[in-house]
This record gives sequence, C-alpha cells and structure tokens, in this order.
Amino acid sequence: MINKINTLQEYHEAYQECIDNPEHFWHQLARKFIWRRPWHTVLEWDFIKPEIKWFDGGGLNITENCLDRHLETQPNKTAIIWESNDPNEASVTYTYKQLHAKVCELANVLKNLGVQKGDRVCIYMPMIPELSMALLACARIGAVHSVVFAGFSSRSLSDRINDADAKVVLTTDGSYRGAKAIDLKGIVDEALLDCPNVQSVLVYQRTNTPVSMQGGRDLWWHDEIAKVDTHCEPVIIGSEDPLFILYTSGSTGRPKGIMHTAGGYMVYTAYTFKNVFQQQEDDIYWCTADIGWVTGHSYIVYGPLLNGATVLMFEGIPTWPDNGRFWDVIDKHQVTIFYTAPTAIRSLMAGDHSPKSTHSLNSLRILGTVGEPINVEAWEWYHEHVGRGNCPIVDTWWQTETGGMMISPLAGITPTKPGFATLPLPGVQPALLDENGKEIEGNGVEGKLCIKFPWPGMARTIWGDHNRFRETYFSAFPGYYFTGDGCRRDADGYYRITGRVDDIIIVSGHNLGTAEIENAIDEHELVNETAVVGYPHPVKGFAVYAYVVLFAEAAGKDHDALRKEINESISAIIGPIGKADKIQFVTGLPKTRSGKIMRRILRKIAEGETDNLGDTSTLLDPGVVEEIMRGKV
Ligand code: WTA
Repeated sequence: MINKINTLQEYHEAYQECIDNPEHFWHQLARKFIWRRPWHTVLEWDFIKPEIKWFDGGGLNITENCLDRHLETQPNKTAIIWESNDPNEASVTYTYKQLHAKVCELANVLKNLGVQKGDRVCIYMPMIPELSMALLACARIGAVHSVVFAGFSSRSLSDRINDADAKVVLTTDGSYRGAKAIDLKGIVDEALLDCPNVQSVLVYQRTNTPVSMQGGRDLWWHDEIAKVDTHCEPVIIGSEDPLFILYTSGSTGRPKGIMHTAGGYMVYTAYTFKNVFQQQEDDIYWCTADIGWVTGHSYIVYGPLLNGATVLMFEGIPTWPDNGRFWDVIDKHQVTIFYTAPTAIRSLMAGDHSPKSTHSLNSLRILGTVGEPINVEAWEWYHEHVGRGNCPIVDTWWQTETGGMMISPLAGITPTKPGFATLPLPGVQPALLDENGKEIEGNGVEGKLCIKFPWPGMARTIWGDHNRFRETYFSAFPGYYFTGDGCRRDADGYYRITGRVDDIIIVSGHNLGTAEIENAIDEHELVNETAVVGYPHPVKGFAVYAYVVLFAEAAGKDHDALRKEINESISAIIGPIGKADKIQFVTGLPKTRSGKIMRRILRKIAEGETDNLGDTSTLLDPGVVEEIMRGKV
C-alpha cells in the first residue's frame, strides 16, 4: 500500500527527493489513502506564527483507512492479538472485520451519548482491546480523543478533562498491573468531583469489581452496546481538523495538550511504521508501550492498522508473574517485530533477566527502542540476548509533538551504531544550533536539535494555547522547530541524542516537568520551597532529586516520615511516576541575586560532582552550596 524504501541507495534518493520537492514526495504518498475529498494544497507553512497545514482542503476519515479498506483485501487477517496481565487467561484476537464491527458499535454508542464531530472524549483505560476501539470509535465520528495514561492520579485526570473540556469519559471498573488490582473507576469518580462539564461516563467491565455508578451519568459499556448495531458511517473531517489531544509535561507547571490533526498524522504514522520496521505481510508486531503515551497512539493503534498489520497488545508488565514474561509472550505469539523502551531493557538486564535457553525467540526479526537515549551497554545486551545477534535494532528518536519517528535507522538497511538514532528519515531536516542560534554545519559537532522544515505528522498547536505553542517550540530559534533535546552529529553524519536541555526529566521513559513536581511538593503544608533536578540512574535513565526547604514548624519532625509524605503528595497530584528517589532537606537554595534558582549547580551536586561546580560568583549566598554538598543524600 505505502511505498517502501528497500535499499540504502533508495533511502538516499528519497531523502534528496524530499529536499528538492517535498510537496511531490508527500503528495505521492498521501494519494495511497482513501480520501473523500481531494486536497487543494499539499503544504502551507510558517514557522514564525507558527501555522502548518498539510493536504489542506482534503477530507477523510482515518478509520476508513485503518479498517474499512482492509475489509476488501484481508477481512479475516488478525488485527489485534491481546495478551492478558494473567498468563492463565486466554488471549483474545480480533480480525479486521471483527474490529471494524466493534469500533462501529462503540461509535454508535458515543453518538447516542450525544457526542458529535469536534467534541472531546477523555479515555482513561488499561491496555485492553477496548482501549484501541475507543480511540478509533472517536475518530469514526470525528470526535477528538484525549487519552490519559491510566497511571495518572485523579488530580492529573481532572486537570486534563477540564483543559480539553471533555464531556464524556470512557473507563473501566478496574485494571490489573502485575499482582496489583487498581480501582480505576474510583479514581475517575474522584476526578469528576472537579469536572462539572462531564455528562456521561461509559464503564467497561474488566475486573468485575464492585464500583459505584452515579445515576444519570454512569453507564455500563455492555448495556449501551446491546442497544446499537454494527453499522456506522464514517464522519468525514478536514485534513486539518483535530484527531486527538495528548498531554505531555512542559517546562512550566501545566501539562501541554499537544494537538494533532487527521490528514498529515495519518500519512506520517503509516509511512514511518512501514519504512522503519520494514514491515512485511506476515509480521506479528509488538510494541510494549501504553496507549496512554504517544508511542501507543502512533505505533499500537494508527501506524500498524493503517498498514493492515497484526499488532499484539499486552496488558501486563515485564516482571510478572516472573521476569521472563516478555520472552514468554514473544514465543507464544511468534512475535517478529519487538519495540520497547531502554528502561525496560535496562531493568531486565540489571536483574540478569536474560532470556533463558528455554526461550527460543527465533521468531524475532527486528528490534526497536524509543523514549530516551539508549546507552551502549543496553543496546549491546538487547542485540545479543534478545536479538540473538541477528536482528537489526532501530533506535527511533521522536516526540509526542512530532507525531511519528524522525531520526531512525530503516531496519536492516541503515547500518547501525550502538547509541545512535543514525539518520533522519526522508522528509526530516534536522539542524544543530549553537547558543547564539546559529546553525552548526558539518560533522563531528554538537548542538541543540531543531527541525527546519515541516513534516506531515507534526503537532499543530497546544490545545487552547497557541501562544504557548509558539513560545515553547518556535521562539528559542526563530524559523526553526526546537525539540528541547541536545544532539551530536558524528564524523559519519550520524545523530546521537544526548538528552533534554530543558527542565524536563525523562524517568523510565516518562517525561516529567521539574516545575510540575515542584508544585506537587510545595502542596505539602510544611514545605516552603523546592527545587527538583534529574540525576542519572542505572535503570530509570534519570531519577528525581528534590531539594526541599521546610518551614520552621517542621523542626523536630522525622525526616523519613516527611519524605514519605512528600512522595505521597506527588503520587496524589501527579501519579506514582513522579515520585522523588532522593529528597534532601536544606536550609536554602542557591539563588542568583535576581532570585533565580541555579539548577545547574543543583544538578551537578545530585550527579555527585563536587569539584567542578562552575561559576558560583553570581550567587547571593555561596554558603548554601557548601551546606548542600555536605548534606547530599
Ligand atoms: C526522548 C516519545 C534518545 C527525547 C516518543 C525526546 C529519545 C523525548 C529517543 C520525547 C531516542 C525519545 N533516543 N532520546 N530514541 N526517543 N527520546 O514526547 O528527549 O514521550 O524529546 O515521545 O524522549 O518523549 P515523548
């Protein structure tokens, strides 16, 4: 269906073609999809405003491309294989035909609830097939989905529901994660105390645990499905109409509702999936991400289904019931493409949870990684122990904001180098900028990673705050999209992402804003002031280090008890993923005379650096640095 690049030479040709005539390149690709209305302009863009439009004037429904189109050619091909948290629970499969019917039914239910084109629907669900169906059902009727990762707290959930002004929430009674059962509906109930505009909650029974159902608001999924049929005409929306909102942490406190539109995102996720994984007809593809993150949106739901692939969805965790679970699942379902995060690789590696001789793993053809820089050691372990030395690894660099992969090898085509995302995909024009905003040419250089030309999958705005969109991504280097990442381009022109250069910490692959965590800690009544930084952690990549100044009333309080309370506060406000690994109580923070916290110094101390603290002469009180160093935890 979509053109595939088959050789390194073809890659270089496509790359050049895309620079010489990007409109033609993307026009040819986009033509392969079902459009109900042709576009009049392939691309219009302005990185200053910023305003980006792809395939403007075009009309489509992405679910026709994910589902209906496959009904003619491969109705009985498996679309989804679902593997439960519990290895003893039977797997479930849906063919494209069955998935289509399920999505249409659910779309009809949403219509009955009054959901219309453009309305926002919040989805707070565990990794079950109904989650994929929920996204697709929204898209079927032109509604905008906003998935909230089901590990977020009720506060995070209500903030996101209100920011998007969602009127319907889809959830389940409960969820399973390893040995734990989580009361999801209870979390939703708590969140909705602060969400006056939510009219309906549709509840799928996953755990069959008792929940309270609020009359007039809460409805059982199965009851509503029983009232509808499996026919639902797709609602045609414009290329530039929103498809979804997905929240990601920002440098300032509030999360940003990244908004993606339908046409460009469709073309881009399908194109990148096909080419990066070099997907073949009979692949069984497994991405271990949660659909609550962008990786799940683009590479569990849209990318694979657009290509008619068979995608495995896993509800559980790598370490339960034992740490061979990933390998069991690969063998059980004969997975050919496996896409996971460096943090998962490192956690299995650290405990010597290598695949055993009882694991064959010989179905595997291609391995992928995403979410944070992969260290060379983890790359090599992955290559040797999981890939048995003969599966190419695609280290894919991209972001929620980019919609799809940007810098990555094409599996088996681009020669790889451990730790390197290698080369930009055709259509992606990276640039490294120096402190003065000047582009650094040539190889063997390092700078801030920007992109200088639009690509179809890029975000169009931050929901309800276009100004913040401009400020965050287009103002640091006018005329460029700024990624927030540092990057090195080596002598061969290969790219290696060195990590965030802003106040975002990636903990176990999850992006967290330092300000967001600081705000949560500040809510503790005994906390006066906080500064949070990240420090390198062998498994998580980075972990959270919090420097906390307490009020005088805290004198004499047990510090460990306080640490526990502070982490409980973070858990309640953000979710357990935001917890601090280290909390140091200090009497003051290093500040400049203008009152700015010198995070650079705090970062160095957290990293264990004591000598090379750099220039401290602008500090208001250099004495606090000494004290902080002495008290390091
Ligand atoms: C980081 C996840 C190095 C990077 C798809 C980026 C990576 C942020 C890689 C986006 C990689 C992602 N190598 N770093 N292969 N992939 N990152 O929005 O810092 O959750 O800016 O999107 O993750 O995280 P997000």
